[in-house]
Amino acid sequence: MYPVRIGGERIALREFEERDLDASMAVVGDPDVTVFLSFDTRTREEQAERLAADIARAKTEPRPDYYLAIADRQTDELIGFIRIGLGGHRSGELGYALRKDRWRQGYTYEAAQLILAFAFEELGIHRIQAACGPDNLASQAMLRRLGFDYEGRLRDHVFTDGGWRDSLLYSAVSTETRSPTKPR
Ligand SMILES: CC(C)(COP(=O)(O)OP(=O)(O)OC[C@H]1O[C@@H](n2cnc3c(N)ncnc32)[C@H](O)[C@@H]1OP(=O)(O)O)[C@@H](O)C(=O)NCCC(=O)NCCS
Repeated sequence: MYPVRIGGERIALREFEERDLDASMAVVGDPDVTVFLSFDTRTREEQAERLAADIARAKTEPRPDYYLAIADRQTDELIGFIRIGLGGHRSGELGYALRKDRWRQGYTYEAAQLILAFAFEELGIHRIQAACGPDNLASQAMLRRLGFDYEGRLRDHVFTDGGWRDSLLYSAVSTETRSPTKPR
């Protein structure tokens, strides 16, 4: 499915565009954000290449993932990313990151609710998992708030910042009555 645009109350999820380069650097170029991600902080040059690849990948069929910009609904400016990577049979993996000056305002929670509804209802995904670092208390709280269950610890799951890091695995399945709490 391309292009995707999912409108929310304060944000929209949309495809990446070339003009997102500067705004995306506030996410992938900020070590305070990338310390929690599975890749190292990127230079503008590296991000320009990645962004071009992400734009091209979105147009491949079948899509390997729905990697979308979280955009401010008023300005359409990119403030973060959210992704559902498509795995085996009707399964997916959730990931997200937001620029630091927008943290704790409910934007990622809203984005996650939008993409989860899209994945379960439009794409027919049955199981969605998410893995985050043991020190990433924000993301763990987010996943619990979204109604995900903790499944276990993945040893040496990612290589980042020069070393191996464990991950904590969470999941949600479509048959569960998930009970995410209401956003503010
Ligand atoms: C994780 C991250 C995306 C959260 O985004 P956010 O937009 O600030 O989160 P929200 O404001 O939507 O918060 C939703 C819920 O998540 C939890 N949460 C978010 N940040 C939190 C924090 N710093 N401490 C504790 N709980 C937190 C809370 O339950 C929160 O609900 P509440 O505000 O009503 O208590 C953001 O901190 C980030 O970009 N971190 C770096 C990248 C990252 O960790 N990505 C995930 C990798 S697994």
